Amino acid sequence: MNPTCKKRLGAIRLATMKVVAQEEIAPAIFELVLEGEMVEAMRAGQFLHLRVPDDAHLLRRPISISSIDKVKKQCHLIYRIEGAGTAIFSTLSQGDTLDVMGPQGNGFDLSDLDEQSQVLLVGGGIGVPPLLEVAKELHERGVKVVTVLGFATKNAVILETELAQYGQVFVTTDDGSYGIKGNVSVVIKDLDNQFDAVYSCGAPGMMKYINQTFYDHPRAYLSLESRMACGMGACYACVLKVPESETVSQRVCEDGPVFRTGTVVL
Ligand SMILES: Cc1cc2nc3c(=O)[nH]c(=O)nc-3n(C[C@H](O)[C@H](O)[C@H](O)COP(=O)(O)OP(=O)(O)OC[C@H]3O[C@@H](n4cnc5c(N)ncnc54)[C@H](O)[C@@H]3O)c2cc1C
Ligand code: FES
Repeated sequence: MNPTCKKRLGAIRLATMKVVAQEEIAPAIFELVLEGEMVEAMRAGQFLHLRVPDDAHLLRRPISISSIDKVKKQCHLIYRIEGAGTAIFSTLSQGDTLDVMGPQGNGFDLSDLDEQSQVLLVGGGIGVPPLLEVAKELHERGVKVVTVLGFATKNAVILETELAQYGQVFVTTDDGSYGIKGNVSVVIKDLDNQFDAVYSCGAPGMMKYINQTFYDHPRAYLSLESRMACGMGACYACVLKVPESETVSQRVCEDGPVFRTGTVVL
């Protein structure tokens, strides 16, 4: 085995976590509560690489950590059924266990923000969950949090009430069935742009928009998705190009999933 792989494998954290609860919170969208010692190490914006609990699916599935309770040693994950793996996760119930690798990835940089600071959170669809822990932690520090959420339609709206505990929330829907009609840009273009930091997670179109709008902002962050295999930096299945470089690339699983705007090609 080459020395880089050995180093990576040495750093892998694998654990069995207990399912505390699972609930369908919107059509085909589930909230899973897991408990275990691994919670101690979790940070906002990281993800867990979950083994599908059957013998047919060899690749783990990455799911973001939505909220963290270090006292109870519990974390919440919110996921949508996309295919076989997530469909199997949805059958788990209290008392079952899951084989978890993590916490993976870099997470959001929440440093140097205080009661003088104002931040913007932008989430789209099933990209909203990792922003909940960001909002919670920054609100606890007195940071002013403004959140803009975009969904396809009313049925898909999640976490509006939870995020509203931590600051003002705007909701948009593409079809106008709830909140403001249109996408998040309809709201963002009218906001005072003096945010100390911007945290975002959503579909590729939304991430491109945030990347362009806040391209030169020193603290604007995108949490990105990509198809993953190993989930720990070894296989290069998840690479993104870096602007103006033919040779340098970034791995979403290991160098991300959170990147500063302007630092990767979308
Ligand atoms: C860092 C990261 C964090 C994520 N966090 C969440 C989360 O919090 N909640 C959530 O619902 N989903 C999340 N995803 C996406 C989730 O991993 C996929 O939906 C899941 O792996 C699909 O597995 P499956 O077996 O159900 O579907 P598959 O049968 O593997 O695929 C079904 C469909 O999903 C698409 N898909 C599969 N994997 C991905 C992927 N990694 N990214 C985008 N599309 C994919 C496929 O193209 C296909 O169309 C995240 C992905 C990444 C990379
Ligand atoms: S999934 Fe293997 S390097 Fe990212």
